[in-house]
Amino acid sequence: MDAVKVTEHGGTEELEYGSVPDPDPAPDEVLVDIKAGALNHLDVWVRRGLPGLDLELPHVTGSDGAGVVERVGEDVTQYEVGDRVALSAGVSCGECEFCRDGEASLCETFHIIGEHVPGVHSEYAAIPAENLIPVPDHVDWETAGSSSLVFQTAWRMLIDRAELSAGERVLVLGASGGVGHAALQIADYAGAEIYATGSSEQKLEYAREHGADHVCNYEEEDFADWILEETDGRGVDVVVEHVGEPTWRDSIKSLAKGGRLVTCGGTAGGAPETDIQRIFWNQLNILGSTMATPGEVDDVMELVWDGTFEPAIRDVLPMSEAARAHEMLQNREGFGKVVVKPDSEMD
Ligand SMILES: NC(=O)c1ccc[n+]([C@@H]2O[C@H](COP(=O)([O-])OP(=O)(O)OC[C@H]3O[C@@H](n4cnc5c(N)ncnc54)[C@H](OP(=O)(O)O)[C@@H]3O)[C@@H](O)[C@H]2O)c1
Ligand SMILES: [Zn+2]
Repeated sequence: MDAVKVTEHGGTEELEYGSVPDPDPAPDEVLVDIKAGALNHLDVWVRRGLPGLDLELPHVTGSDGAGVVERVGEDVTQYEVGDRVALSAGVSCGECEFCRDGEASLCETFHIIGEHVPGVHSEYAAIPAENLIPVPDHVDWETAGSSSLVFQTAWRMLIDRAELSAGERVLVLGASGGVGHAALQIADYAGAEIYATGSSEQKLEYAREHGADHVCNYEEEDFADWILEETDGRGVDVVVEHVGEPTWRDSIKSLAKGGRLVTCGGTAGGAPETDIQRIFWNQLNILGSTMATPGEVDDVMELVWDGTFEPAIRDVLPMSEAARAHEMLQNREGFGKVVVKPDSEMD
């Protein structure tokens, strides 16, 4: 079968759509005929290579995908041939102290399909049954294949970690990205007043359509000054961070006393300068967040399936154009998710 593979860590020229051995599902796995998947910034990190991530190359990429069950391993009872399914990429052991506490994404051996083990941007993928989510018939493949990773991440960040409540003020950075645009919709659902940043007027217009009440082009204006002006010097209750180095200090400066900053990443650098004095004096809470628990995934995907949340699709590309898909993320082009499909599935 054909798959998107990284042949060497490096630039987009190291991506190839070509032949790899057919996957053979283990007893607890399901073979899925992939109809659509989507890019996450993680795919860019994996292609470039991450410290401590020692992958066998070529590595098949992709942490989001959906399709039809083609075959089930002998121990799988909850799925059958023909079922429509999507992937939830976080893998946990179910047995360690954190798993037993219901905190699967804190698992001692937590890992991500597409990052630490082969991904699903391929014609077929063998996926642990535990990592599949049933997809209702009315949901299209683009939605099913592009929602799980970013919506679960943003859901845990806002609902579980930051405990966002109605009427609170939240600042969403990078609102045009996958996590950012999911966070807008979730914050809107929670009844918050939403401030969003983006690097172009077009992105900010989309941010408004997805729930933002106030927007700021941070290329033209200092966003912390903007927040303080908009909130009469008070600041926001919650900041959703995933940009990192260039925004961190201003994210902290944007918080009200006792506010919460929740971060899941550092796209533009992971070792920012910080302002300790502001953290202790204003008694701020810095919260880390990664992926989500299976229960959180169920909760948020139910709201994707019923149309409450909807991924914005930047573009749909054949997997043979994976390099172009990576460029769209790296160059910060567009709003929402870039969908990829096996070339044989393009209309
Ligand atoms: N811990 C977890 O579980 C988890 C899960 C998902 C994602 N993440 C992390 O969260 C981050 C966002 O992921 P994503 O998939 O949403 O990415 P994405 O779709 O590529 O979006 C990134 C957004 O960040 C903004 N940005 C600001 N400065 C940037 C810069 N120097 N370079 C690139 N983008 C910049 C861009 O918007 P503007 O140009 O409008 O500012 C862009 O839309 C990544 O670092 C990812 O690894 C972590
Ligand atoms: Zn565990």
